[in-house]
Amino acid sequence: MTQPVIIGSERSEVGLPAGMDVLRRGGTALDAVEAAMRRCEDNLTDHYVGTGGLPNAQGVVELDASVMTGSDRRFGAVGALRGFPNPISVARAVMERLPQHCLLVGEGAALFARENGFEGAELLTEESRAMWREQLLTAAEAVEGENTPAVDGDHRYRRAALELVRRMAPHEGPWGTINIVALDAHGEMCVGVSTSGYPFKYPGRVGDSAVPGAGNWCDLRGGGAACTGRGELSLRGGTARTVVDLLALGKEPADACRVALEEAAGLPDEYRSELRALALTPDGRHGGAAGQEGSVYAVMTGASTEPELRPRTLV
Ligand code: GLY
Repeated sequence: MTQPVIIGSERSEVGLPAGMDVLRRGGTALDAVEAAMRRCEDNLTDHYVGTGGLPNAQGVVELDASVMTGSDRRFGAVGALRGFPNPISVARAVMERLPQHCLLVGEGAALFARENGFEGAELLTEESRAMWREQLLTAAEAVEGENTPAVDGDHRYRRAALELVRRMAPHEGPWGTINIVALDAHGEMCVGVSTSGYPFKYPGRVGDSAVPGAGNWCDLRGGGAACTGRGELSLRGGTARTVVDLLALGKEPADACRVALEEAAGLPDEYRSELRALALTPDGRHGGAAGQEGSVYAVMTGASTEPELRPRTLV
């Protein structure tokens, strides 16, 4: 029997105990990840995931989520899903009930969720709506002040609109995607990722959380890894997959995360901001790395009474 372990990114602490309860009862890593992640998605004080997540530039919450299991590399994901509070469960349903597909987005993802009996809900809370409005007003003022007199009002208008979207996408964190990786008593692993994505993103933008190899990867030959932060960097870097490949070559988890993040950090990127990674191996070793000081991840084993925070290696 393997000793179960569950790890998660910042603010996963609200969910990890539920995941560890599943693992202690002999449940699967997939069940543990889903149980833990649903708690995080339902946490209204967390503005980067599930209900209460920050909306896109038009004020609509669009969620990305994925699950992947380590023994068979099955993968299910949804992107830009509107109106369903627990995208992790919809992602799992894609994996289990629509195995000819891995990823559904937008209207198709919502149709699938409805057809499979998931309950819809309004995801924009009063608080997240107020945060969006404040950002909108600040960005509009900044753009207005910057515009030079334009020869053509139509062009000026369009340029300002694009600039508005650019400015609304923050360069700095805090980034709030949730990563959860579990190892169960049978030796199976699962990685789950859930997010409301880049705050005030362009409508329809799907980030790394829904994309295998970028924000999520799980393969028992190396382990499981996931990313938070600027998803365009891990999409371009194939960062979660890189971490797991490095684990398979024998690197320790924190070191594998550091090397993969360094690789992504070498990419030219005008919107550079923090990227973080964490990893767990099939024999229970774990670690993380981040581009910013003070970043941590949370861990629980069968002996834990509550999640413990561990520092990430600084890149
Ligand atoms: N890492 C989350 C995102 O970029 O959407």
